[in-house]
Amino acid sequence: MDNSSQLIVLLGVLLLASSLFGGCFSSLQEEGHPRIAWPSELHPEFFLPNGNLTTDRNSIITYYSSHTWLPGGGGVNYYGVEATLDVYNFDLEHGQASAAAIWIVNRGDGHPSSLCAIQFGWHIFPWLYKDSHTHFYTAWMSGGASGKGCMNMNCPGFHNSSSIIAPGHVISPVSHVGDQKSNITLRIFKEKYSGDWHIHFGPSGDSEPVGYFPKSLIPGLIDNPVEISFGGYVAHRKPRLSPPMGSGYIAYNENAAFFSNLKLIDQDGNDYTIDKDLPYTTDMKGCYNPSVIDSAQFFYGGPGCID
Ligand SMILES: *[C@@H]1O[C@H](CO)[C@@H](O)[C@H](O)[C@H]1NC(C)=O
Ligand SMILES: *[C@@H]1O[C@H](CO)[C@@H](O)[C@H](O)[C@H]1NC(C)=O
Ligand SMILES: *[C@@H]1O[C@H](CO)[C@@H](O)[C@H](O)[C@H]1NC(C)=O
Repeated sequence: MDNSSQLIVLLGVLLLASSLFGGCFSSLQEEGHPRIAWPSELHPEFFLPNGNLTTDRNSIITYYSSHTWLPGGGGVNYYGVEATLDVYNFDLEHGQASAAAIWIVNRGDGHPSSLCAIQFGWHIFPWLYKDSHTHFYTAWMSGGASGKGCMNMNCPGFHNSSSIIAPGHVISPVSHVGDQKSNITLRIFKEKYSGDWHIHFGPSGDSEPVGYFPKSLIPGLIDNPVEISFGGYVAHRKPRLSPPMGSGYIAYNENAAFFSNLKLIDQDGNDYTIDKDLPYTTDMKGCYNPSVIDSAQFFYGGPGCID
């Protein structure tokens, strides 16, 4: 990234943090967590090449529907997660985005400029691709001193190791409500000896290594506990409408999209099935509320929000 886009990333972090720390996410705050556990720092506007943050700040609206494992409880820390989720497609326009993802975040000293994060999953993002297909994507950001970030293979950073699938590729087939389901498995973990963050992706039960984020790329994730979040995310720029999330059905509908077979991964690479509920993040309007986690599975999403 050139200097101006680095600056945009950094400014975005500051602006978003200030607006988010205003407190929309009561669920996590009520439980006594001092900070909002949502890594919305990887906001679409970061990746708009010529985004105008003055206008974007007021016109881009985002919603989340996710669960978060927060480090610190009982001295246990995890450095990875795996999930199987269903994949959908919608006809979105420039100015709309819809995603299902996993986020790995470290908040540094608490200042937005020390935030570091990795994000990956599926999304529909006409801003970026100039199409409305569903893409596999990866993104990283390192607030720190440099304030860098990037999506897919758009700049150096992520090392791809697969000749079959690379970040940015279109996912096909997708699920059709009431008909064929298309599931994918996502896995991320920190490799113990190298400290690099590896990603696996593929059809359900058949994921394969895709590549890794070298530890040097994201210094804030070295030897530090991380927050691990997973769920849905949508963004839109008014006057466009807020787009569907997940399958387009709310969590308690039988057609809702899901994250299943959820497992946390420890520093030695052992998997632990998530057998209890975790804190969740949603918006005040409740348009896309997630369900509780039950049997390592939860539902999320919705058709849209009037805002
Ligand atoms: C960004 O938008 C604001 C408000 O519309 C405008 O005043 C400003 O000149 C714009 N900045 C750039 C760099 O285009
Ligand atoms: C990584 O992706 C690039 C661009 O898609 C491709 O040219 C290269 O072959 C990939 N690397 C590997 C190891 O397959
Ligand atoms: C997708 O995953 C769900 C939940 O694990 C499962 O019930 C369903 O059979 C899977 N469908 C396919 C086609 O793999």
